Amino acid sequence: MVSERVQSQVFGEVATDYDDVRPGYPVEIADRILAYAGRRPAAIAEVGAGTGKGTEVLRTLDAPITCVEPDAAMAGVLRRRFHDDEFVAIEVSRFEDWPPPADGVDLLASAQAWHWVSHQTRTRLAAEALAPGGVIALFAHDFGFDEDTATAMQNVYLKHAPEIAHGVPANLHPDVFHPDELRTSPLFSDFEQQEVIRVVPFPTPRYLRLLSTFSNHRMLPEQRRSQLHEAIAKLIDGRGGVLHQQLTTGLILARRAA
Ligand SMILES: C[S@@+](CC[C@H](N)C(=O)[O-])C[C@H]1O[C@@H](n2cnc3c(N)ncnc32)[C@H](O)[C@@H]1O
Repeated sequence: MVSERVQSQVFGEVATDYDDVRPGYPVEIADRILAYAGRRPAAIAEVGAGTGKGTEVLRTLDAPITCVEPDAAMAGVLRRRFHDDEFVAIEVSRFEDWPPPADGVDLLASAQAWHWVSHQTRTRLAAEALAPGGVIALFAHDFGFDEDTATAMQNVYLKHAPEIAHGVPANLHPDVFHPDELRTSPLFSDFEQQEVIRVVPFPTPRYLRLLSTFSNHRMLPEQRRSQLHEAIAKLIDGRGGVLHQQLTTGLILARRAA
């Protein structure tokens, strides 16, 4: 029997590349979480930790972290990264199936992964995983371009892969965060949204490797994916061979209501 690939589970197919090529998160994210929380957390849970790019930043908060990650290959890279760090524990599980500690954690964080957790249950499960007054922190990148590149890129997608042409090339903040869920939930209060903006240069081959780690690209049939990537390579090469990615890291914060 051939099993059908599920989009939330394709990251492990390229776990090593993912770890190499995906941009990490600015350490300011941890500073901002700390400033919002008002005190250092005693315990952190991280949802969808992947290979540990968010974990690295959360680790600067100097508290024990339980990383909840369902994909064995992603968890393998994560384990290698933190094998000698007694503050990092790994649970190979979906967040939906993970039993949180009875007293809850002070900080529940998720980097670029919250959108993969069931939207029907995630807000309730987050509240249940948090200690009273605990903080949820969701962060993720928006992979943007200057206006001219954005238009040219959009046209390439419309020609070769129109089904993923919206939010080119990956997920934009609103799709990743669904901020209204937390903003309007009676289970949470003190909603805040912040951003950190950087420009990250990607030479053509590295940019193609980055795209190959995006789940919407991985789900394209191979031939169409190559055609799309060839056209994107041509576009970047025609503009000097380096893409200046406008990387906006969004951060959403809310507190478990009393
Ligand atoms: C885009 S990656 C983000 C990984 C890492 N946090 C980062 O920022 O690089 C999304 C991660 O969410 C994980 N994931 C998918 N479904 C999940 C679920 N239901 N619960 C927890 N994690 C999930 C995937 O296995 C993957 O490692």
